[in-house]
Amino acid sequence: MERHSMTIGTSRRASTSRGTETPQLFHQAPARQSMNLELDSKITLNDGHRLPVLGLGTFRSGDESASDLAFSAAMEAGYRHFDSAAFYDNEVDVGRNIRNSGIAREELFVTTKLWHTDHGAERSRRAFETSFARLGLDYIDLYLIHWPDGDRAGSWRTLMALKDEGVVRSIGVSNYTIDHLEQMLDEFDLRPAVNQVEFHPFLFQKELLDFCKRKEIVLEAYSPLTKGTRLDHTELKSVAAAADKTVAQVLIRWALQHGMVVLPKSSNPERILQNSRVFGWELAPDQMRELDGLHEDWRCTWDPTDIS
Ligand SMILES: NC(=O)c1ccc[n+]([C@@H]2O[C@H](COP(=O)([O-])OP(=O)(O)OC[C@H]3O[C@@H](n4cnc5c(N)ncnc54)[C@H](OP(=O)(O)O)[C@@H]3O)[C@@H](O)[C@H]2O)c1
Repeated sequence: MERHSMTIGTSRRASTSRGTETPQLFHQAPARQSMNLELDSKITLNDGHRLPVLGLGTFRSGDESASDLAFSAAMEAGYRHFDSAAFYDNEVDVGRNIRNSGIAREELFVTTKLWHTDHGAERSRRAFETSFARLGLDYIDLYLIHWPDGDRAGSWRTLMALKDEGVVRSIGVSNYTIDHLEQMLDEFDLRPAVNQVEFHPFLFQKELLDFCKRKEIVLEAYSPLTKGTRLDHTELKSVAAAADKTVAQVLIRWALQHGMVVLPKSSNPERILQNSRVFGWELAPDQMRELDGLHEDWRCTWDPTDIS
């Protein structure tokens, strides 16, 4: 149960009317380059599609009206990337809010995920069709395998077919360890564009991050705020006070400076806005090191380590 790369070289970075572009994966010296990030910055994935660096998490974002409120606050604040899943039972709400946003579809980025009880070539196809109908969109930007347990190879074949058919622009995985990724890279020519995993200073998955950077797989940080459970941690509070930011902003900024795409969830309009104000300032190298040093292999969600 879900308890639940970019290079922003100054010379290569182009500012367009559609936002700042990050033409390559953000692999080199991310801390320095991250100063160039803005809320509309995007990472170019290994398949050429572009993914906004900050996305709104939507797990447990509430009923229809709570979801509408969160989406309108997020759109107003400038979020253009929304992370959903079949398991969250909110694809209808997400689709409605995307369709009714008044923002051009190509400016928005929508992720949904295949739940693991739907693994396998045929089941995953049926599950996709259900998600697609619930969202009511012409295409899905990113479709992820939510959890590796089960016939994930069969599911990946379906996802590759969906990408070929154009109903899904990019495909990827979630909760994959290095072992899972290595198996996948051995078996398939098409790499996942993204691996979405739990990531915050208490679970600083540096080896996985480095592996994904080498393989040009963008790592997305979920539960970046520890589900709100550790925001009163003394060292986090002291870094936040020194930076004159909130603990939540420091946690989001830390993940951005590690070159990740970050997915904080909030249903509260003020916190949605606060969580978007993580650009135009940076954590100093010693603050980054202090946060890195909080690693204790602690998780607030599920642990895929023992799945073969
Ligand atoms: N692939 C996976 O297996 C997986 C697993 C978990 C999550 N995810 C994705 O990642 C997203 C984020 O993770 P998450 O929802 O587990 O947790 P999270 O983003 O770490 O934390 C969300 C919690 O923090 C609170 N919060 C948000 N902003 C805050 C702020 N500025 N100050 C204080 N509290 C704040 C929220 O409350 P309010 O809403 O009341 O503000 C909520 O209780 C999910 O929504 C989902 O899209 C994916």
